[in-house]
Amino acid sequence: MPIVTVALGERAYSIHIGRGLLSDPASLPARLSGQNVAVVSNETVAPLYLQTVRASLRAVGAKPFEIVLPDGEAYKDWQTLNRIFDALLEHHCERGDTLIALGGGVIGDMGGFAAACYQRGMDFIQMPTTLLAQVDSSVGGKTAINHPLGKNMIGAFHQPSRVVIDIDTLSTLPRRELSAGMAEVVKYGLMRDADFLCWLEDHMPELMARDATSLIEAIGRACRHKAEIVAEDEREQGARALLNLGHTFGHAIETGMGYGVWLHGEAVAAGTLMAARLSMRMGWLSTADVARIERLFAAAALPVRAPDLGTERYLELMRHDKKVRRGRLRLVLLKTLGEAVVSEAASEAEIMEAIRDARGKAD
Ligand code: NAD
Ligand code: GLY
Repeated sequence: MPIVTVALGERAYSIHIGRGLLSDPASLPARLSGQNVAVVSNETVAPLYLQTVRASLRAVGAKPFEIVLPDGEAYKDWQTLNRIFDALLEHHCERGDTLIALGGGVIGDMGGFAAACYQRGMDFIQMPTTLLAQVDSSVGGKTAINHPLGKNMIGAFHQPSRVVIDIDTLSTLPRRELSAGMAEVVKYGLMRDADFLCWLEDHMPELMARDATSLIEAIGRACRHKAEIVAEDEREQGARALLNLGHTFGHAIETGMGYGVWLHGEAVAAGTLMAARLSMRMGWLSTADVARIERLFAAAALPVRAPDLGTERYLELMRHDKKVRRGRLRLVLLKTLGEAVVSEAASEAEIMEAIRDARGKAD
């Protein structure tokens, strides 16, 4: 079983990756014995996996109770967060007790934020059940809820004390969600690991068929990258910003299409291709490089054409993105396949050309 360490000094923690981990009490820290443990999940994931987690917690002597929330990004809000606080208080939880987030990124972000705030910070464990959460959101301690005026605008950095990734949970994940998570896996190859990119090109059919050995390898490699980046730049002062490859264009697609029409990973895939086309205009990538990215996303059943929102609308949405500094669009671009950079070099005219290149049809 691969174990990856996030080296954050006294807040260091391990990421356990393997099969059958939810039903294995050995994947839980022994200190949970005698503790109240709140398992936060949602109405989709709880019927599938909560019983298994409860049995493992009882086996280590913990006293589990459940907080089952409605499913969906629309519930990543104050009202739903308050339901977690209500339950923690009703069960007389103390700061020394533990919260477990069992679900995708929505449950992980919201459960983590509740743990960050409750009695000024309680311990929490991530048990991610979507590919996106396993390779990205469960690692690194970004927690948040949405505000009506902006996504993830209310939050805190609060690292988990452990991440338990049971890849068997991916067997029930809808195919579209699997593809969306794959966009974030490909991101690590594009931004910092050309060998991993080649490996993904060779193994995408097995990954999409949910072959366990290939999934463990891909998730392990992705988590090692995320762990290194977070250890180097926990608060996103530098290298962590590179994780936003494809995200400024992608957020414009998500917002422009209306939330939920495109999944985040789908928008990131199309957005990454827009960033790649802009990198080509800057003279950094070749046509063949862009075609390689397109083939890899297509093999993961991800969209390779951006929707036609209109060039001006794209720019307007991108200017609203929180990565804009001093009116200049700061974008993550690719110097080569395997090396991303944060750049303000592209002019608006070049960005507009890249948007036109990437869309299904011209203005
Ligand atoms: P999600 O949590 O909404 O999960 C997607 C869907 O899959 C949901 O309907 C969920 O109930 C269902 N599901 C989850 N696991 C399942 C399983 N094993 N079997 C069947 N169905 C399952 O979405 P997501 O893509 O996991 O996460 C998106 C969220 O993550 C967004 O809110 C985003 O802001 C956040 N995010 C956070 C970070 C971070 O660093 N904290 C990074 C990326 C994304
Ligand atoms: N998903 C972006 C980050 O963790 O920084």
